[in-house]
Amino acid sequence: MTAQDLPFGIDFGGTGIKGAPVDLTTGDFAAERVRVRTPRPATPAAVAEVFSSLLAEFPASSAPIGVTVPGVVRHGVVRSAANIDESWIGTDADALFTEATGRDVHVVNDADAAGLAEVRYGAARGRDGLVIVTTLGTGIGSALVHDGVLVPNAELGHLEIDGYDAESRAANSAREAEGLSMAQWAERLTTYYRTLERLFSPDLIVVGGGISKRADHFLPLVRIETEIVPATLRNRAGVVGAALYATL
Ligand code: BGC
Repeated sequence: MTAQDLPFGIDFGGTGIKGAPVDLTTGDFAAERVRVRTPRPATPAAVAEVFSSLLAEFPASSAPIGVTVPGVVRHGVVRSAANIDESWIGTDADALFTEATGRDVHVVNDADAAGLAEVRYGAARGRDGLVIVTTLGTGIGSALVHDGVLVPNAELGHLEIDGYDAESRAANSAREAEGLSMAQWAERLTTYYRTLERLFSPDLIVVGGGISKRADHFLPLVRIETEIVPATLRNRAGVVGAALYATL
């Protein structure tokens, strides 16, 4: 198979939009990834335009495209926008991007994409039972995967804990905004992950997001009983998971 026939993944984030064709047998990029800056404001129409120009950098193809969105996505329609432009709510993103690109586009929640990728190729590869993948970034994303099957839109970053929206206390953005030390942040993560343990009894928790490359500095300080490990796909998880999702 040439790169042209392979599904394409697009990771739509707050600062950058990244895309590459993905070889699903290995979970690797089949061509060099392209990154462009996220337009401001990142309205659906502006983002759709960026997707078209990003795709123009690759050879023409009819293979499906997966796109991550940092919000709830039900049957292609975006239903929440905690950290993105409000105009996304109610947008049929599958239809909009399919129209804009002329390709078969499937939109998926960003953390769900990361979860699928970590279970198929990364830290949770070969693990059955209940795996919870969390991404610690501007918000907290979550994916629930049971025996390899995704239960979409878990939104566990918005659990109310001690009267707070969990991500407002425990996301990496809260650590940065409040200047927390790793030890202080790990206390908050302990409270957060203990809540997940109590509610879901997972077999494995995977911790992703950009900060996961510094997992050595905080994960050993998180005191829970469940096995908890750093994600391994790092910033590839969104693109790879989106491409995988497009073929499911
Ligand atoms: C959103 C989720 C998203 C997560 C990470 C949360 O605020 O509600 O849908 O997965 O941030 O981007």
